[in-house]
Amino acid sequence: MDKKGFIFDLDGVIVDTAKYHFLAWKKLANSIGVDFTETQNEQLKGVSRIRSLEKILEWGNKTLSEDEFNRLMSSKNQDYLNYIDAMDASEILPDVSKTLDFLIENNQAIALGSASKNAKPILKKVSLFEKFEAIVDGNDVSKAKPNPEVFLIGAQLLGLKPENCIVFEDSVAGIQAANTANMLSIGIGEEDVLHEADFIFKDFTEITQEFIEGIISGTTVKQPKNNLSIKN
Ligand code: BG6
Ligand code: MG
Repeated sequence: MDKKGFIFDLDGVIVDTAKYHFLAWKKLANSIGVDFTETQNEQLKGVSRIRSLEKILEWGNKTLSEDEFNRLMSSKNQDYLNYIDAMDASEILPDVSKTLDFLIENNQAIALGSASKNAKPILKKVSLFEKFEAIVDGNDVSKAKPNPEVFLIGAQLLGLKPENCIVFEDSVAGIQAANTANMLSIGIGEEDVLHEADFIFKDFTEITQEFIEGIISGTTVKQPKNNLSIKN
């Protein structure tokens, strides 16, 4: 069988940490008199820590000094880390471990491609750290998703060409990053949100062994996208 590179996003793909980001951002927002809803939290998926705080301030029409901005950002992260501290392997999303093990048994390369600067401690907490051949996280990139940098570094570390890599992502920015990198993009979540992905599944319980085998053997390939700019 051919060797392909499977690159996993972390938050929302491997573990449901969005609920902890929500609680920590809500506490911060409310402390400066800004409302923060679950819908707004959705819009922070895949978005870096700095950009997330900037967006919350925009929504609340607030400005902060640089010192205050940095103080709030690190206090949000401390609250988030307190939630992470209590995590264990029971928080791995359904069938993620099964998929990782199937790929490893079939001699496939596995990498992590996450915007989070907390990716490594989270992987250790849920006992998945050892399964990844390469880890690229928020500490390694200078350009955030939808820029493809995080996934391109992942492919490079695996020693594979981007066209031989597959990305699992739950955010729109992440799917766009994978598409720009010329990788096969697999959306994990809702079809109406992730419609730019080559394939979309609600979660890993919907992904069959046959589907993965098709990717490995090359029979499951990138979907041609409608190019609206071509008129004739
Ligand atoms: C992404 C999350 O994976 O990482 C975002 O979807 C989060 O919600 C971003 O803001 C940065 O995470 P962290 O852990 O570095 O604050
Ligand atoms: Mg995500």
